[in-house]
Amino acid sequence: MDTTTAGGPSATYDRIGVGYHGVRRPDPRLHALIGRALAGARTVVNVGAGTGSYEPEDAEVTAVDPSRVMLDQHPGRLKVRATAGELPFSDGAFDAAMAVMTVHHWPDPRAGLAELRRVARRQAVFTWDPAHRPRLWLEEYLPEISAMDEARFAPLEQVVDGLGAHTVLPFPIPHDLTDGFQTAFWRRPEHFLDPAVRQANSTFAQLPPSVVEPAVERLRADLASGAWHRRHADLLERESVDYGYRLVVAGE
Ligand SMILES: C[S@@+](CC[C@H](N)C(=O)[O-])C[C@H]1O[C@@H](n2cnc3c(N)ncnc32)[C@H](O)[C@@H]1O
Repeated sequence: MDTTTAGGPSATYDRIGVGYHGVRRPDPRLHALIGRALAGARTVVNVGAGTGSYEPEDAEVTAVDPSRVMLDQHPGRLKVRATAGELPFSDGAFDAAMAVMTVHHWPDPRAGLAELRRVARRQAVFTWDPAHRPRLWLEEYLPEISAMDEARFAPLEQVVDGLGAHTVLPFPIPHDLTDGFQTAFWRRPEHFLDPAVRQANSTFAQLPPSVVEPAVERLRADLASGAWHRRHADLLERESVDYGYRLVVAGE
């Protein structure tokens, strides 16, 4: 199935999605957490599916994404080009709906969350709480991230209320997370020097090179001089840090 519906392509991911799968490899620990929330579901719709990370192996999954570039990298058979705000499915069509690191891309999160409730009996949404502290040290180099992420990410209460959720599970970020989302490299700062890592991250990709490049050079210099390691010696001792990622679960 490949249905093009209203909403048009996701311009961001049509631009930055090439090579996504190489950097954004699903992490087994996050996969297990999401898998437990989806246990028993036989049919699952993955909204903002991207390349298919975190989909359960034991369910029939329908992948939904507005980006052609992302859907082309998705290995599944059932793929639908659509946006969260207008899901082309009947009420209660699926046992469960999942949405992972995508709600911040939806122009109207309330409408998208209502659609997840309409088309499925259970929902599992993985997102980031913009009110959470601490923030990643990356903001020392790129203070622009803070305002941008606060504007993009829905407050956690909005996601909880929008779904009528009964459970919110924290996911502290392990130091060796395999999925290169923004905080993944909290203990591996040298990864931010890699343009491929930055390309697979929508925050970096949406900031102009004139802002990002000097920041990356400041980080490079601090890594070379040891200044970063002196400033963040406490982090080097830690196995995981709670940076505000949450799995929000609702329904039956
Ligand atoms: C960070 S990626 C996450 C992909 C995947 N869920 C994962 O965990 O790797 C965000 C995805 O949301 C999609 N997206 C953007 N706008 C959307 C919308 N309005 N409705 C649904 N998905 C959208 C993007 O095309 C992209 O594939």
